[in-house]
Amino acid sequence: MTDPDAALSRHTDYGVERLDEVDLAGDPIAQFERWLVDAAERGVYEPNAMVVGTIGQDGIPSSRTVLLRGVDAGGFVFYTDRSSRKGRALAAHPVTTLLFPWYALHRQVIVTGDAEPVDDADSDAYWASRPHGSRIAGTASAQSEPIASRDDLEARVRELEARYPEGTNVPRPPRWGGYRVRPWRVEFWQGRTSRLHDRLVFTRDREAASAWAVERLQP
Ligand SMILES: Cc1cc2nc3c(=O)[nH]c(=O)nc-3n(C[C@H](O)[C@H](O)[C@H](O)COP(=O)(O)O)c2cc1C
Repeated sequence: MTDPDAALSRHTDYGVERLDEVDLAGDPIAQFERWLVDAAERGVYEPNAMVVGTIGQDGIPSSRTVLLRGVDAGGFVFYTDRSSRKGRALAAHPVTTLLFPWYALHRQVIVTGDAEPVDDADSDAYWASRPHGSRIAGTASAQSEPIASRDDLEARVRELEARYPEGTNVPRPPRWGGYRVRPWRVEFWQGRTSRLHDRLVFTRDREAASAWAVERLQP
């Protein structure tokens, strides 16, 4: 295909799957886990990849892809550099959206919630589970800061590899760690034929973390 207009004007039929109220799990975490397993089993590439939306100190939104590394009743956990652009945004406005774009399944989940740093013990445990090269890279790179050249970055990596050879402990930089997102809105979107999609949204009180209510939204 050489014509971008051909890519822009495609209409895909989103098929026969459906999402009915009676089929929903009782809470959004359980429903999310069902769909995450489906995405993994049905071959979605990087099923735990999500687009994290933040609001900067200047009120300007930004987004980027991050990997989900944990989910349970306490929320959704990801790891990053807390001095990064997203980290600075979360320090100013600790609220975020997590969007899971499972296009191949004609599904999308959007989580809205409040983000807080995970405790040091959890960040340490996850840091320790990462390959040596990732720990070196995470130490070498002050995420989101400019650097003069790729060579400068690679020189920093070589320095750190000399200081911390394979098999030795690379300490976790204090700026590197996790966030836990405590959800108060979770929307499940299932594509249907002729754009009559299913949208079911769980909400609960943001402060009181009350019981979840479910509503159907128009597509
Ligand atoms: C598939 C994929 C997975 C990624 N996973 C992570 C991740 O888990 N943590 C992270 O900090 N950045 C991850 N990134 C890089 C981010 O998208 C982003 O470039 C980086 O976090 C800096 O974002 P910021 O400048 O907005 O803070 C990933 C990118 C892609 C494409």
